[in-house]
Amino acid sequence: MTSAERIAELRARIRHHEERYHILASPEISDAEFDALMHELERLEREHPDLVTSDSPTQRVGGRPSEGFPTVDHAMPMLSLDNAYSEEELRAFDERVHRGLGLPADQPISYVVELKIDGLSIALTYDHGVLVRGVTRGDGVRGEEVTANVRTVRAIPLGLRADRQPVPNGTIEVRGEVYLPRHAFERLNREREENEEPLFANPRNAAAGAIRNLDPGAVAKRGLSAYMYQLVSVGGVGAVRDPPLQPTHAETLRALQAWGLPVEPSWRVCGNINAVVDYCREWAERRQALAFDTDGVVIKVDSLAWRQRLGATSKFPRWATAFKFPAQQATTRVVKIEVNVGRTGAVTPFAVLEPVRLSGSTIQMATLHNEQEVARRDIRPGDYVVIEKGGDVIPKVVMPVLSRRGPGVVPWVMPAMCPACGSHLHRPEDEVVWRCLNTACPAKVRRSIEHFASRRAMNIEGLGESLIDQLVSRELVRDVADLYHLTADRLETLERMGRKSATKLTMQVESSKSSGLSRLLYALGVRHVGERGAAALARTFRSMDAILSATRDDFERVPDVGPVVATTLRAYLDEPPNRALIERLGTAGVKMTAAEPVATPQQSLDGKTFVLTGTLSSLSREAATAAIEARGGKVAGSVSRKTTYVVAGAEPGSKLEKARELGVTILDEPAFLQLIMDY
Ligand code: IVH
Repeated sequence: MTSAERIAELRARIRHHEERYHILASPEISDAEFDALMHELERLEREHPDLVTSDSPTQRVGGRPSEGFPTVDHAMPMLSLDNAYSEEELRAFDERVHRGLGLPADQPISYVVELKIDGLSIALTYDHGVLVRGVTRGDGVRGEEVTANVRTVRAIPLGLRADRQPVPNGTIEVRGEVYLPRHAFERLNREREENEEPLFANPRNAAAGAIRNLDPGAVAKRGLSAYMYQLVSVGGVGAVRDPPLQPTHAETLRALQAWGLPVEPSWRVCGNINAVVDYCREWAERRQALAFDTDGVVIKVDSLAWRQRLGATSKFPRWATAFKFPAQQATTRVVKIEVNVGRTGAVTPFAVLEPVRLSGSTIQMATLHNEQEVARRDIRPGDYVVIEKGGDVIPKVVMPVLSRRGPGVVPWVMPAMCPACGSHLHRPEDEVVWRCLNTACPAKVRRSIEHFASRRAMNIEGLGESLIDQLVSRELVRDVADLYHLTADRLETLERMGRKSATKLTMQVESSKSSGLSRLLYALGVRHVGERGAAALARTFRSMDAILSATRDDFERVPDVGPVVATTLRAYLDEPPNRALIERLGTAGVKMTAAEPVATPQQSLDGKTFVLTGTLSSLSREAATAAIEARGGKVAGSVSRKTTYVVAGAEPGSKLEKARELGVTILDEPAFLQLIMDY
């Protein structure tokens, strides 16, 4: 085989596996095997630079940081959608469509329903099947050309597949949504929280920020994904014809899929408006379990000829509408505003709320971020406020209901002293965060122990908040190194602590010693040093000794470690009390070198047997099986005493009853996803 042939073969195989992984969530090979294919292609392309093409999978992150984005006119305006908020409004839409088409009211109209993805719209141009341009919606008439950034999105193919369906010889434009999956959003906000950067309010803002980032290298790391739902023009450049190729929208979606474009799989053809209403009801309930945020359902007339006849107003097409899910908001009263002292001494206000139900849980607290935010939004103790679930997990206060503000309700004032130790709070002029600088502040000590023991750090199970409170207030533990001198005898003197749990805890503490350098670095809780930074440092330096003697510049040379981390880490290590702490941890037997991967995430479900029943909304059965197997678990066909978990999706079968009979642990979809994400 010639190099050119091998290159072509590798590209086709890589594209196929990218589709399996990023679009179908159902990989067929391991990451290592995929990397091997990629490396071979990279090597061959280095040897034959003349054979490199723009649609080669090696060419995703090519662009340099740019100065700005050129503006581009859309071939056809990117319209917005009219909204429906209730069943009545959905039926009114159906009636308008009937009238517009001159059809009798009793003739059912076929609609395609899709989830409305909460991202930002994008238009992709493929020329002879090769991705040549990506443009944001902008104002609908003209958008920004963000091609280099779009190319980094792994779900977006650089070249269309021609093996399942011919690729047009001219230009096609496909439109859809770029979005940030929830897990990537949560990871991003976790990192930003560690770095004390402002959090993104929702995945959409985070995605919009990413796609408009001037550095494609940074965009590639965000973990953006995409779903496409429209084919607008087929023909030569500028030759815009609508409707394109396919007679129905359902067939268009199938065509997009066949070209290897990402299409959200929950779409359905509904034969009449009743089926549309059912679909909207169903997803209003199920949407929590999805891997991405959705704020509604888009309802589209299936026949493209009918769409043509219906046309559009200046803003919306008449053939589509968006059903918006009821907002996950509630109103309650702020009982008081208190502050919380974090492990780095940051003092953050939060609202204590009158308990209120909000999409499945009771909320009694919400963060207020910082003093400035409280003032900016004018939230006062005693106010009625609208609260919302941001990213669907952390509740936040949206705004006060001014019409309900009582006469005695006065603005909140940030305390001048630390509520835990009484020392004066400080705030550098250019920062928004007030801090307690007392290293012995009991609140800081508590939080740093909590962090040290947390699952992602040293993972000391059983060392919970109330136990830490007791240990600190009785002065049994003054810092994290003291944990390693606790004996079962001493622990037994604490409240609610029997011999058995005391022994168990000392064993947990003991086994945490072998966590390894990466976890230890993260566990120390140095400001700005998050999990990723810690892992990168451990990989590079391999031992605490090497880290202690490295310079700030040495740190900065590590990928994933920026100047801020490098500076704070060096400053932390230069403080004698911190060096002493690390030394005491070492003397206690805490491992100070990088752990060889004992249990890589891949093997973490080792020995566990799963049985799947019913339909999962966010992934196919194959994908679920692949995810379990990739982590070393097994999937069996029937439930027995040997089954560890039964994963129950919608409409589960008799396996669920069997599991109940045998007392096997049953996981619903969110619990299963959590398990998979955790390992
Ligand atoms: S169809 C002519 N389908 O929602 C407009 N839009 O509120 C065609 N969106 O600008 C849009 N998911 O960015 C359509 N499955 C979906 C969608 C979707 C999200 C966005 C799109 C649009 C906005 C309108």
